[in-house]
Amino acid sequence: MKLFARLSVVAVVGILGYASEALLPTSAAATSDAVRNTLARKDCKRGTFKDYYLQGEGGDPPADYKGRVYKLSQDYPTELPAKEAYPWLKIPFKDGGPVDPAAYLRALLEYGLEGNVAVDFYVEDNKTRKWYGSPWMDWNTEVASDWPGTDGREFVHGLTHEFDSAGNTFGEKQLEFVDTWAQAYVNDRYAFALGQVYCDPDDPKPGALNPDPTGLNTMPDGAFVIKLLFSTVTEAELPTVKGALEWDADIFVNKSPHFRNEGPLSRYERRIGKVRLIQIDLQVRDERSTTGWLLGTYGYDGNAKGETPWARMTPLGLQWGNNPKVTFAESCKGPNGPCDYDKLTEQWINRQAVKDLATPPLSFNHLGFGGRLAGPVDNPKSSCMGCHQTAGFPMVPILAEFAPNGSVLKLDAEKQPETAQGLRMTYFGNVPGGSVFSDTQLYSSDYSLQLAMGLQNFASRRCAKDATLPRPMLCVQLAEWVRLQQKAIGAVQVFGTPGVGGAPIKPE
Ligand code: HEC
Repeated sequence: MKLFARLSVVAVVGILGYASEALLPTSAAATSDAVRNTLARKDCKRGTFKDYYLQGEGGDPPADYKGRVYKLSQDYPTELPAKEAYPWLKIPFKDGGPVDPAAYLRALLEYGLEGNVAVDFYVEDNKTRKWYGSPWMDWNTEVASDWPGTDGREFVHGLTHEFDSAGNTFGEKQLEFVDTWAQAYVNDRYAFALGQVYCDPDDPKPGALNPDPTGLNTMPDGAFVIKLLFSTVTEAELPTVKGALEWDADIFVNKSPHFRNEGPLSRYERRIGKVRLIQIDLQVRDERSTTGWLLGTYGYDGNAKGETPWARMTPLGLQWGNNPKVTFAESCKGPNGPCDYDKLTEQWINRQAVKDLATPPLSFNHLGFGGRLAGPVDNPKSSCMGCHQTAGFPMVPILAEFAPNGSVLKLDAEKQPETAQGLRMTYFGNVPGGSVFSDTQLYSSDYSLQLAMGLQNFASRRCAKDATLPRPMLCVQLAEWVRLQQKAIGAVQVFGTPGVGGAPIKPE
């Protein structure tokens, strides 16, 4: 088996090298559209990804369900669509960030909503431009202790289950856990990149995000995502949620993640219920940014002016870098602030919104580590760009606390966020988009955590030992990776230690 595995890796690399040699780009600059197009695979197979959790395997809508059923928009283009005159391009940049971040963020939201609101985000019906979704989120294992696959897309709008917010996260009146359900929609240039990775849906190539193997593994400039985040939180629990956009969704009957996690699987039973739009995340590839990306967010404020729930979405902030040299103690006085935002020059924070939404009894807080931007439903000790810069295959911990070395150092973001900055600040670095975050990763997925997670989900179903389909390249590489990682870690303990007769001790 191992011999076969090695051979097929060699074969794959060989073919790729041959195909690209004749077409190598001449300039060292970011890969142009022309080069991406020339090297892109055109013989792609489409339409095979499942739409929602356990589709055709017991997860289908009940007979009495009369509403619309979610379909994954997955006809990814094989020709890179031309860049549009995107509204955000009008805003000039200085030092890697926009000179008017608020206007930039507004331009992102307008583009993301255009034509999508009218079709209730069944984006395949959008009259203005085409939109798509990411593969392999129907089977998703996201919240660390969840049962395999149970976070996967529900059948009404394709929402996946995310972070559970414990009591008191949003305000004093929220006593119980509330669940987040979310969905991301990508534009055509982003979809082209996804489509290259999944050109053969049974044999994804994570390194084909950029079809040019001599370039960084990047999405093309102008790749864009809008993500809608809904919560089961009610107006009684969070007063500012009044008048929010409400959707039906097939969500968990049991509210407590602890109860669900104890199993059995039937505790993950789903039923149609209401969710409310409380956050909108936006993400764009713009070559002018320090990292290649900008991430911004809006939060819902029922007290804001505006005729529609969309108009009452309030800008919270925009990040184009993490300020990797600004330690926690430099920007914040203590574990719970106050923090000096002026130290963080690679982001913009709407300070009025901090007062309106995050002053007790409300705590709809959008400040993460050391005052960096994070969404109200995100882990408050992280940041948008901090988590997203780790995106790659295989996935790695997205926070220092979740990493084994964080555990060895006994990090505690709640009590002592200011200690062990040498390790922590790695998680608040500025990884150049398209490079890997950690030397334990094989491929960057260029700040896309859904792509990273989708590949992980693919591996969880297709790389198991008893898989009946032909072994995908990614599984072969993963098996080799596991073996060599284990060997390398074993070697750390014996390196330089003399064995019998002074000979080196061989790990394994
Ligand atoms: C604690 C880590 C974490 C933080 C902080 C975080 N995200 Fe994410 N984000 C994720 C994960 C994990 C996913 C993929 C899972 C999903 O979308 O269901 C994701 C997905 C997304 C997506 C969909 C496209 C993609 O890259 O996968 C967007 C857009 C996004 N996040 C934007 C933001 C913005 C904007 C912020 C800050 C306001 C933010 N995120 C903060 C972890 C994080």
